[in-house]
Amino acid sequence: MSSLTIHANSHDYEVIIEEGIRHELLNYISSDYQKILIITDDKVSNIYLDDVISGLGNEFDPHITIVPAGESSKSMKQYERLLDACVEAQLDRRSLILALGGGMVGDLAGFVASTYLRGIDFIQMPTTILAHDSSVGGKVAINHQKGKNLIGSFYNPVKVIYDTGTLLTLPAEEIRSGYGEVIKHAFLSSPEWCNDLFQVSVGNLSSEQIKDDLMKGIKVKAGIVESDEREKGIRRYLNLGHTLAHAIEAELGYGKITHGEAVGIGLWFALRVSQRKLESSLPVDRYAEWLKSNHYPVEILKNLDVDTLLKRMKWDKKTVHQKINYVLLNQIGAPCVVGLSDQEIQTDLNLFIKEVSAT
Ligand SMILES: NC(=O)c1ccc[n+]([C@@H]2O[C@H](COP(=O)([O-])OP(=O)(O)OC[C@H]3O[C@@H](n4cnc5c(N)ncnc54)[C@H](O)[C@@H]3O)[C@@H](O)[C@H]2O)c1
Ligand SMILES: [Zn+2]
Repeated sequence: MSSLTIHANSHDYEVIIEEGIRHELLNYISSDYQKILIITDDKVSNIYLDDVISGLGNEFDPHITIVPAGESSKSMKQYERLLDACVEAQLDRRSLILALGGGMVGDLAGFVASTYLRGIDFIQMPTTILAHDSSVGGKVAINHQKGKNLIGSFYNPVKVIYDTGTLLTLPAEEIRSGYGEVIKHAFLSSPEWCNDLFQVSVGNLSSEQIKDDLMKGIKVKAGIVESDEREKGIRRYLNLGHTLAHAIEAELGYGKITHGEAVGIGLWFALRVSQRKLESSLPVDRYAEWLKSNHYPVEILKNLDVDTLLKRMKWDKKTVHQKINYVLLNQIGAPCVVGLSDQEIQTDLNLFIKEVSAT
């Protein structure tokens, strides 16, 4: 069993990573809880809900609410429905919400837990690789029609129970999505880890490798958020690759590309800009090869328009005084934030799209 303690402002909490742990949940959940509400989505519930219920043993008789799978469930409608479920189940301050699923369920159930009765305990049980990123750090949210994650709070789980055995059923694009954030964490921290990942084919990962990468990724994220929980300074580094990624996701329409795949492409661009602007020495060609050999959908860029992308990037919340604040790398493990003019972004994006189109 691998475990790690995260030191949040409100409390410390443990992340436990182990294959098969869903079958023995009882050992990891305090018997002081009088009621449990499991929140999950309709894809995850089909595969793992029975295991989780029997893993809780006879001690608990959990309430269950299932939301439709997909980003559109991070909505006011589902939020309200879940609050109704909390009231109906008569959850009180000694109750627990168990979020079983990927980042969507984690963000939604976490936001419910943060607001119901001004906050009750919740445990994250991530079932996607991407959720190594979303389950720690304490950001919980739902979406507004005008934008993602506009309604939310900072609220940490009391525990993260990560059963790597659940990751075996992930479809290929969700594995790529998860590894988009994993490799971002590698670029933020360690050349050796980047090199290791370049050898890896994400379609053919061993359970040990995934467990190792999740733990490393969580350590990088935890190290950053522990010193800047509320995103006043260095937490912005976690946005590496995200300015272009958000623009691509918004332009294509959510659901056309996974978040982590877009981050993988955005990271490639951030590395190229770092080379030009900061003269950083970075293994950009090697990384581009890795993206292509792992079938990240880089070709979608060919059909996107530079001016529209630029406009989207400027709407991104990091824009101050018209310049786009971009996370770049001086070298692997040494991020920084640099203001870039429209002109610079336009030129770089044109060059980048040309490079991608030539492959
Ligand atoms: N809070 C944060 O700090 C933070 C950070 C990054 C992302 N996020 C949020 O996370 C969300 C994305 O998370 P995600 O990529 O995990 O998406 P997701 O939760 O929507 O899961 C992706 C798909 O995989 C399915 N799935 C989940 N686990 C599965 C399994 N084990 N086997 C088979 N299918 C499975 C889901 O039903 C869904 O269809 C977004 O809403 C994003 O805003 C939050
Ligand atoms: Zn992300």
